[in-house]
Amino acid sequence: MDFTITPTGATLGARVEGLDLSKPLPDKTFQTLVQALGRHGVLKYPKQNLSSQQLRDFAGRFGELEINVANAYQEPGLPEVMILSNMKQDDKPLGLADAGQDWHTDMSYSNMIAFTNVLYGITIPRRDGKSLGNTEFCNMHAAYEGLPAEWKERLEGKTATHDFNKFWEMMRRERGSARPPLTPEQRAAKPPVSHPLFMTHPITGKRVLYANPGYAIRINEMSEADSDAALAFLFEHQTQPQYRFANQWEEHDLLMWDNMGTIHNAVADYLPHEHRFIKRCQVAATRFFHADGTPRETAPATA
Ligand SMILES: [Fe+2]
Repeated sequence: MDFTITPTGATLGARVEGLDLSKPLPDKTFQTLVQALGRHGVLKYPKQNLSSQQLRDFAGRFGELEINVANAYQEPGLPEVMILSNMKQDDKPLGLADAGQDWHTDMSYSNMIAFTNVLYGITIPRRDGKSLGNTEFCNMHAAYEGLPAEWKERLEGKTATHDFNKFWEMMRRERGSARPPLTPEQRAAKPPVSHPLFMTHPITGKRVLYANPGYAIRINEMSEADSDAALAFLFEHQTQPQYRFANQWEEHDLLMWDNMGTIHNAVADYLPHEHRFIKRCQVAATRFFHADGTPRETAPATA
C-alpha cells in the first residue's frame, strides 16, 4: 500500500497520508504505524471517513479497548466508542464536555496503562477561520533526555503513585466542572497504583519520563516533602515549551497518540455555542504488558 509518513518537524507529530482507515490494513502497514507512533508520538491521518464501527475496528488492532465508566456518553451499541462533545440535544449533553482539560496521560492510574488514544474529529469549533480546541502534547522521550544528570541519578529506580481522584478533584476545584465527587465505591474501584518513574519505552527501547501532573501524587521512596519538591520540579520540567507540540484539528482528522511517550492537554478555548464533536477509542497497552503491569518479552523492533 502506497502511503507516506511526514514528520511535522516539531518535537512530536507526523502526518500519515494515502491510507483509507475504513478498510483493514495489511499487517506490514500496521507494524509500520506502530513503529511510527513510538517514534513520532502523535500521528494525524487527514481526510478519513469512518463509521463508529470502522473507528472501533481500526483502534482495536492496537490492543484491548477500554470501556469507560461514563456510560452515558458511549455510542449506542458500541461501548468502546466514547463521545467527547459540548453539544446538546433536547437539553441533554451528547458527550463528555470537559475531558482531559489539563496536562495528564491517560490511564496512568491503572495497572494496565494506556497505549494509544484514537480520536476521530467530526465537528471542530472555529473562530475567525482558525480551529479551536487544540490537543497539546509534550514529548517524554525528550523530557527524560533533558533532565539534568543529577536528577536522572537521584530518581533512577524510583516509582510513583498515580491516583485517578487527583485529576477528578482538580477539575472540580479549579475548572468549576459539574462532576460530582467520586463516591467511595468509585474510589474503591480505582485504587492508586505505582509505576516506575523512568520507563523503557516498549517500541523505541529508550527511556521516557513516566510522570504526569494529572495523576502522579507521590514518589514512593522519598519523604513526603522531598517527593512534593521532586514532583513540582518534574511537572515544570516536562511541560517546558521545547517539549511541546500543538495539534490543530480539521474535520475528518483521525488523530492518535502514544500515551507512554507523551502527555497531553485538551485546550478549552471554545465557548458552549462553538460546537465540538469527537469520537474516541482508548487502547490499553496489552500488547506490551501483562495484566499485572510487568512487561511482555517483545523485542522493541518487532513490537
Ligand atoms: Fe486524556
